[in-house]
Amino acid sequence: MSLRINDVVPDFTAETSEGTINFHEWIGDSWAILFSHPKDFTPVCTTEFGAVARLDDEWTKRGAKVIGISVDGVEDHKKWKSDIETYAGLPAKFPIIADTDLAVSKAFDMLPAEYYLPGNATPADSQTVRSVFIIGPDKKLKLSMTYPMTVGRNFAEVLRALDALQTSTANTVATPADWKVGEPIIIPTSVNDEAAKEKYGEFETIFPYLRKAKLPA
Ligand code: BEZ
Repeated sequence: MSLRINDVVPDFTAETSEGTINFHEWIGDSWAILFSHPKDFTPVCTTEFGAVARLDDEWTKRGAKVIGISVDGVEDHKKWKSDIETYAGLPAKFPIIADTDLAVSKAFDMLPAEYYLPGNATPADSQTVRSVFIIGPDKKLKLSMTYPMTVGRNFAEVLRALDALQTSTANTVATPADWKVGEPIIIPTSVNDEAAKEKYGEFETIFPYLRKAKLPA
């Protein structure tokens, strides 16, 4: 069964481009973003990993560690990193897991559907899809998204979703569609108007169940 939000994510020990890691230990007290890709030395993947490298300061600012994974081996990962760095114009500091036996891909359910059909598995089916898992310091899954091979991910959206998760966790609020840091949050319906006034001062009531406020500084 696939991972669900609030499940503790599988722990594992794996070889990476930066040495052996134990996943839960590596996460430590940080947030973590695990993102899979189908294959090293491929065009879409190179642009995606370049995008992640360019966001290095942004992940650090948010206390988040990023780690990539594919079914290729450590030596390929190390060589491919040099292409990623050329493309990004910056170092790619994050590790890439070498999931050559598919153990992690299977544990996180990152393989395409055909792979699970008995007798239908081909080498191409062993390529992971483009998944992103945002994991909290409690090692629980907070968010996941999956894209097909042909569509490169929007890592600005991954960053925005991380901001929304961190804000909603820290303040017990929700965030509206397209929300960005600094914009009004949604007051939970469990908070009555009186308590909302005390906590947020002014707030906007669009419907009794949809109230927006600025977070206190
Ligand atoms: C890519 O462009 O990232 C890609 C192309 C073919 C297979 C896997 C990945």
